Amino acid sequence: MNAIEVDHLTKYYSNARGVIDLSFEVNKGEIMGFLGPNGSGKTTTMRMLTCFFPPTSGTARICGHDILKEPLEVRRKLGYLPESVPLYLDMPVRSYLSFFAEVRGIPARQRKARIDEVLDKCSLTHVAHRLIGKLSKGYRQRVGIAQALLHDPEVLILDEPTIGLDPKQIIEIRSLIKGLGAARTVILSSHILSEVSAVCDRVIIIHEGKLVAVDTPHNLTRRLQQTPKILVRALGPAEAITKTLRSVPGVLSVKPGIDGPDAFIVDAEEGLPVINSLAQALCAQNLSIAEIRPVDMTLEEIFIQLVADDTEVRRQ
Ligand SMILES: Nc1ncnc2c1ncn2[C@@H]1O[C@H](COP(=O)(O)OP(=O)(O)O)[C@@H](O)[C@H]1O
Ligand SMILES: [Mg+2]
Repeated sequence: MNAIEVDHLTKYYSNARGVIDLSFEVNKGEIMGFLGPNGSGKTTTMRMLTCFFPPTSGTARICGHDILKEPLEVRRKLGYLPESVPLYLDMPVRSYLSFFAEVRGIPARQRKARIDEVLDKCSLTHVAHRLIGKLSKGYRQRVGIAQALLHDPEVLILDEPTIGLDPKQIIEIRSLIKGLGAARTVILSSHILSEVSAVCDRVIIIHEGKLVAVDTPHNLTRRLQQTPKILVRALGPAEAITKTLRSVPGVLSVKPGIDGPDAFIVDAEEGLPVINSLAQALCAQNLSIAEIRPVDMTLEEIFIQLVADDTEVRRQ
């Protein structure tokens, strides 16, 4: 059984498309990234998974429990960090968590221990008595995550957990999420590509409410990169370098790289040990090599290509 099974999930608002026919699975213990531009349907999907509102059609199961038939079970299995956390600014952190522990139905005698545990997990112990309103945005976000962890859920759903944070806070929240992912299943949304590649095992990409791809960042790169590309940086006249690289069997094209005037991108045929031949050819011409390595597409490039392909398919 997968931790999350999304089964033809569709949501139309009265006058707008939410998401259309989404199906995917998240394995137990996986950190899944949910990636798409603003308005692509990430929050809509998460709200259905957390039983905030029902789908127009289709369904989903959380740890085997159907969101339509067993919403109470689903809520027990889930912790949820909404896009904008409703924090009570005039409440101290501990009182806020205590309030939610009660709402969550955690028995009174267990509450203190649970709260201490989530405070510790989220590195909040030293601010437990501070007013939420006096905390930085990064700390408030941690309070939101602590709240989502109170009932020790198997599945965590985090909607844009790092939005509005500064770079240092982003790194801290990322490592918190990575740590949480060791013991549970996490799905986190983001419209920032570097974010998901830094934390996630796999990535779901949606665009205009439709699923475009589900895969590991590594496989997405391989799938889209039709031919191997090699970055070469060499010292010497650009024409001589280009001519030498072009002369190597298996080389399809040589283009200037973007990382400086001495960088070149070689497109090569699959299956040939082209890197060695390139290095030998440059040495034979006394052109010294500063760097030579295979290049992967960045998630940015992957996303642009996937979305372009998707738009193309729909036009046909
Ligand atoms: N409450 C709502 N009423 C009507 N349309 C909505 C509502 N919430 C979201 N939408 C629409 O659904 C689409 C997906 O939005 P959303 O799920 O918020 O995307 P994301 O979280 O990826 O930015 C958008 O076109 C948005 O305008
Ligand atoms: Mg959103």
